[in-house]
Amino acid sequence: MSTHDTTTAAVSPDDLRMLQHELRAPLNAVLGFSQLIKATQRAHLPERVLHWIEQIEFAGQHMLHVIEALGAAAERRHDAAAHEPMPTSDLLRAVQGAIRMMRLAAAQAGAQVSLCAEVGRPILVMGSETTHRQVLINLLSNAIKYSPRGERVSIEIAGQRSGHAQVVIRDRGIGMSAEQMARLFTPYERLGREASGASGNGLGLYLTKQLVESVGGTLAVESQPGGGTSVTVLVPMAVKSAAA
Ligand SMILES: Nc1ncnc2c1ncn2[C@@H]1O[C@H](COP(=O)(O)OP(=O)(O)OP(=O)(O)O)[C@@H](O)[C@H]1O
Ligand SMILES: [Mg+2]
Repeated sequence: MSTHDTTTAAVSPDDLRMLQHELRAPLNAVLGFSQLIKATQRAHLPERVLHWIEQIEFAGQHMLHVIEALGAAAERRHDAAAHEPMPTSDLLRAVQGAIRMMRLAAAQAGAQVSLCAEVGRPILVMGSETTHRQVLINLLSNAIKYSPRGERVSIEIAGQRSGHAQVVIRDRGIGMSAEQMARLFTPYERLGREASGASGNGLGLYLTKQLVESVGGTLAVESQPGGGTSVTVLVPMAVKSAAA
């Protein structure tokens, strides 16, 4: 995939436009009602409930951005001449947003998610915050899902590794054999985990790899059966324009 498309070639632009159209109205209702509750009930609700409503709003906004990105990708494919510059974003913010979105799933699995950032300031990289959040949500979801209850999941983020920012998602879960790893990134491939109780479609990593590559990045997986898994994502740092 040569441009920053975030979709698969198998879906037609018309399908995407229709999906976008059908999802936008219910999603706007979710967001609208969350905002209404905050605006009118703030004084009557406990702080933690307001925080949950903010989480609903944040997740809804993320979905809305994903839907907009799908639509934009469909338009770009339709009009190949339209060539917008790739957006840039702060990778640290995307990591923090992904952790925020996965907090409930982590709590339900008893997983402790820890973030270790080499720098506390923004890490400006190629690609939108939504794209990076999608990638990190998928990888965090796997790390949590394929680890025993109560295990630790860590995210380490570092800027500047020869022009790239690096994020490593590490778990101490069930891991994968070399034979299983050879089939990774194949759509609908669950590596024999269909009956394990962990839900999924075998699409997350396939899409994640496409998303990372669409911004010029790479994704590498290391794993041992029973010894955990680490996924390293390298994303090109944003190039400052000469005029800036
Ligand atoms: N961190 C991990 N530890 C162990 N196995 C993993 C890990 N991540 C992925 N896998 C294996 O790779 C398979 C494919 O992962 P992928 O994320 O594409 O799909 P999924 O998690 O099964 O479903 P989906 O992401 O579509 O909800 C998984 O079914 C699982 O067997
Ligand atoms: Mg997955």
